[in-house]
Amino acid sequence: MATGTTLSRHVSAEEDWRKDAAGELASLLEPMAFAGKILAREIDQAALAGKLGLAGDQNATGDMQKKLDVISNEIVMDAFEGCSLLAGIASEELSEAVVMSTSEDARYLLCTDPLDGSSNTDVNAPLGTIFGILQRSRMGELSAEEFLQKGSELVCAGYVLYGTSTVLVYTAGSGVHGFTLDRGVGEFMLSHEDIRCPHKGTVYSANVGRHNDWEPGVRKYLDHVTEKDKPSGRPHSLRYTGALVADLHRCLLDGGVYFYPADPGNRNGKLRLLYECAPLACVAEQAGGAASTGRGPLLDVMPEAIHQRTPIAIGSVENVALYERFMAEG
Ligand code: AHG
Ligand code: MN
Ligand code: MN
Repeated sequence: MATGTTLSRHVSAEEDWRKDAAGELASLLEPMAFAGKILAREIDQAALAGKLGLAGDQNATGDMQKKLDVISNEIVMDAFEGCSLLAGIASEELSEAVVMSTSEDARYLLCTDPLDGSSNTDVNAPLGTIFGILQRSRMGELSAEEFLQKGSELVCAGYVLYGTSTVLVYTAGSGVHGFTLDRGVGEFMLSHEDIRCPHKGTVYSANVGRHNDWEPGVRKYLDHVTEKDKPSGRPHSLRYTGALVADLHRCLLDGGVYFYPADPGNRNGKLRLLYECAPLACVAEQAGGAASTGRGPLLDVMPEAIHQRTPIAIGSVENVALYERFMAEG
């Protein structure tokens, strides 16, 4: 009986093919996967260990931090401690970028949302961790500006989804691959090889409670997908978990679209470009899906600040294109 493919074996095989990566990808993904394993355990045990609820502070984007937000950030940072390849981290839970290594090998930067969907922590609903890895454009003392790169520059991106099982999904430019955590063995094992996002889907994910605040094009899009039209599979079904990672995972496997538009209170939407939207857009595009601000490719947006927000529509190519068309028509 085949014993299966571990994440590290898969990454090594990818590096044989890439040649340029020379073990670096493995050295960067290994701590991320380790953080995912520790986080899966912490999330599982949080209610018993008194780790649910608020921590008491606000993060840089004004969200009240949950205890698990703070713990998750520490777990990710600890996992990369001693990784000489990583020069610095930008995280949702850090107000400024933090220097990790000053080694001359420190050629990479990590952008992370250590705990996505943290309003779900206390109600046993899905959570995620998002990561994106960029290359430094120059060496020497790290400056925050080095993180301000388009999503199209990401060399590796992915997420961990803590759902009914824990799944790590990554891309390093040759497809998107998913690994399920085998808790008995303590390894992420290949379970979803070469994920291909269906061209179109009949599920949409959005906080429709906010639809009165949306611009006319987005409201008309919602009217369209909820309209009855049997031949085109409408009305579409609404699925919204409160964790972008979980909603995107469904889109990648079953097709559909997740969108979080701008509104008068959030002129750039709610979600953050560098460590939420860009890494997931990279995964979606690598899987044959699409990601848009509603007005153009999300991966082309040049960030001006680490915690910059962006509107987003992400998922199946046809669904995202239709969303863009409605936005353009207004
Ligand atoms: P985070 O927990 O990292 O702040 O992210 C939550 C995000 C996203 O995962 C989710 O889809 C969205 O915010 C939910 O926002 P609403 O509660 O406004 O729907
Ligand atoms: Mn998030
Ligand atoms: Mn978060």
